[in-house]
Amino acid sequence: MDKLVAFLGWIDDRFPLTKMWKEHLSEYYAPKNFNFWYFFGSLALLVFVLQIVTGIVLTMYYKPDGETAFFSVEYIMRDVNWGWFIRYMHSTGASAFFLVVYLHMFRGMMYGSYKKPRELLWIIGVMIYLALMAEAFFGYLLPWGQMSFWGAQVIVNLFAAVPFGIGEPLSEWIRGDFVISDATLNRFFAFHVIALPFVLAALIVVHVIALHETGSNNPDGIEIKKNKGPDGIPLDGIPFHPYYTVKDIVGVVVFFIFFFAIVFFAPEMGGYFIEHPNFEQADPLKTPDHIAPVWYFTPFYAMLRAVPPMFGSQFPGVIVMGAAIVVLFFLPWIDRSPVKSIRYRGNCFKIALGVFVVSFVVLGWLGVQPSTPGKTILAQIFTALYFAYFVALWFIPKIEKTKPVPERLTS
Ligand code: HEM
Repeated sequence: MDKLVAFLGWIDDRFPLTKMWKEHLSEYYAPKNFNFWYFFGSLALLVFVLQIVTGIVLTMYYKPDGETAFFSVEYIMRDVNWGWFIRYMHSTGASAFFLVVYLHMFRGMMYGSYKKPRELLWIIGVMIYLALMAEAFFGYLLPWGQMSFWGAQVIVNLFAAVPFGIGEPLSEWIRGDFVISDATLNRFFAFHVIALPFVLAALIVVHVIALHETGSNNPDGIEIKKNKGPDGIPLDGIPFHPYYTVKDIVGVVVFFIFFFAIVFFAPEMGGYFIEHPNFEQADPLKTPDHIAPVWYFTPFYAMLRAVPPMFGSQFPGVIVMGAAIVVLFFLPWIDRSPVKSIRYRGNCFKIALGVFVVSFVVLGWLGVQPSTPGKTILAQIFTALYFAYFVALWFIPKIEKTKPVPERLTS
């Protein structure tokens, strides 16, 4: 033990290990009223690590080549020891990542965690979300199945809709060819396994640094730093370690129960996690009957299809789809309420947030359906409701009274 302490001292003289441990864990004071919504940050971190580890193993057997990619995945599934397990963990992990991040973002919207002083933390979060979408999009081409190929074809073609003669050359530049091809597969592989994981890792580190600068928000939306004891420690704070490290382990166990139930018993999740046409090799001469992205992109895909083309160009739809994400960056300034948490906000806010969630889910469902005139109208209505939320956030604080916010945490 003495030797261990001496060794730690040797390191501390050269690297601030104990200092960092204290700053970020044993003496990082988090509000004592975290509920289950606060599991999803650490779960997102867990899924990120899972994706990196399983991704490294997959890369050992996968071949990024238009001729062999599909068969190398089949080889992983059938011949590599435990290959099916690693691959299904990675494909299920992609969906789990989005599920966890969507719940994490919703928590932020419920408790006003994007509001001052956490605006930058939120913006970094939205950047993570964008990087995650890019990561998933690039990864989806790699198995070189029918949906990989045609999905990428549809999305890259959207860039061709950019006007002023920029679109066509831009989409060719992205593909490296006139159609999705071996050249596209190679560059998507490079982005998926190295460029975007780096970007994501860097953003996650910055995200946590920003969080530890401001301190965590909580279900009451009260700043615990405003009430400090004589020792300078927030009266409503408890050390992250051991209290929340132990609590987070509960979240991890529950998460793993669901995660492995899917990996073992329903890895395709009825075609939602791995789409059925992707069990057929990519065929540039055979378009699938119905092309749809994976579920986590479908709310935005439904918005794209909801907007009618103008002069034969899909550009207006692309703008609406982009705006649906870009608007999130401005959330901290769009919401003018003096109160953070839903607990102390009025019914109008609660209804607006409820309608927002319903529209996101309905758009997600519409995005996997073949489009019909009736469904297009539905998609238009729910796209309007999605954006109406942000308009409502601007006006509600002017017309609705909030409840008094207590000085100290309530539970
Ligand atoms: C790889 C993805 C992500 C990881 C690993 C991650 C990690 C974390 C962690 C560990 C926390 C602290 C624990 C918690 O509050 O749950 C946190 C807090 C937070 N994250 Fe993320 N996050 C990710 C994505 C996002 C996204 C996409 C957003 C928003 C667009 C976001 C916004 C926030 C906010 C606002 C907080 C503070 C919440 C509060 O204190 O109430 N994060 N994040």
